[in-house]
Amino acid sequence: MAMATKGAAAAVVGSVATASCRMQLGGWSSNGMGSRPSATLCVPSRLRTEVLLRGLMATDVAAHDFRSKAGRRIHRCGSINLVRAEAVSASTVVPAGAGAQHAAALRKSRGAPVDLGKTHSMSLEQLEIVKSMDSWAGETLLPLLKPIERSWQPSDYLPDSSSESFYEDVRELRKRALEIPDDYFVVLVGDMITEEALPTYQTMLNTLDGTRDETGASPTPWGKWTRTWTAEENRHGDALNRYLYLSGRVNMRAVEKTIQYLIGSGMDPKTENNPYLGFVYTSFQERATFISHGNTARHAKEYGDMKLANLCGTIAADERRHEIAYTLIVEKLFELDPNGTMLAFYDMMKKGITMPAHLMYDGESQTLFDDFSAVAQRLGVYTAADYASILQHLVKRWKVENIPGLSGEAAKAQDFVCKLPSRIVRLAERAESKRAKDELKTARFSWVHNREVLLN
Ligand SMILES: [Fe+2]
Ligand SMILES: [Fe+2]
Repeated sequence: MAMATKGAAAAVVGSVATASCRMQLGGWSSNGMGSRPSATLCVPSRLRTEVLLRGLMATDVAAHDFRSKAGRRIHRCGSINLVRAEAVSASTVVPAGAGAQHAAALRKSRGAPVDLGKTHSMSLEQLEIVKSMDSWAGETLLPLLKPIERSWQPSDYLPDSSSESFYEDVRELRKRALEIPDDYFVVLVGDMITEEALPTYQTMLNTLDGTRDETGASPTPWGKWTRTWTAEENRHGDALNRYLYLSGRVNMRAVEKTIQYLIGSGMDPKTENNPYLGFVYTSFQERATFISHGNTARHAKEYGDMKLANLCGTIAADERRHEIAYTLIVEKLFELDPNGTMLAFYDMMKKGITMPAHLMYDGESQTLFDDFSAVAQRLGVYTAADYASILQHLVKRWKVENIPGLSGEAAKAQDFVCKLPSRIVRLAERAESKRAKDELKTARFSWVHNREVLLN
């Protein structure tokens, strides 16, 4: 993932979405997983720090009671009879404004009271299921990673600084870049910055119960996967960063500040330390990056820059391979625990896929992420329609419509998820026609030396 543009579409979807649906889900546990019994793994005993518990209890204290059992702390979820399912609301599909989000992140970093949201929401039964997948992960996931000796490197796509032709090659690169407009560079920078926040994504994977890399060099298949995936992803930000530096078209200092802010802010994908939720999220995001890098490749080709097109296309191919791996994990979970996985899929879509760069900030603009998303939408690099198409793709990929024998709640979740893509498409179409009638809006981006770029 190192999840590129991811967010672009969301601004548009979010801005128009007013529809919400209410689903009666009697007895659904508040962890959204609907696992029965609703005892959920709270915190492994060795991690039972006061801070974590304080944060945990601050979240849903009214709905849970806490008790110790067999060395583990268990919190029992109360049931919620009414779940308000915001299908595609502004607050779920995309955050309401990067500036506000960033301010919230700053408040957190200054020690203001923190709401951790739900954490460790996977049930003990589900933890056992995940643990049973260890050898499957070794046999199925690890072969999808490429041996380093056969992997591409950023240097393969950029001028070689040790070569005599370096200056000439850079001159050629810059000449090609002159043919490319600022709006494309805004999107490419946003994609690059998102890739560069890779430490955040590795951290996210290592929050997941049952699959995290426990030591930092764990020999488990999950540990190997996470580290090697990160190592593959690391080339994406490196390559784009180096290209942008050489292009001479962007304000690298402003770009670098944005990266530093973003890594410092992190992200909150609302995956609750829960691999069911986490791998639905990564499945979605890997496809989102596959689409957005594929589109930046297509545009670069249209501008006549085949070398940049090849670089973006190569990154897109990595994202596709990663998507295959993450969707295989969720497919396996569907096989082992259809009800729990159905509810996890529903839960993530109900909450909306939070974009990984949603806390983007450059020290100046309070609306940077929204503006970047708007430009990506206008250029067709990542759009509301893409968001719907990803969901549609995953529904098909996991054969969600045909999963038999689901429990009442999971059956309702199945119905909701299957109908959601067409609802998003309708909303996107409405947004598009509204956008066409809107007054033209522009924003200045520090990334391109504060030049104005059209947003809609
Ligand atoms: Fe990826
Ligand atoms: Fe990536």
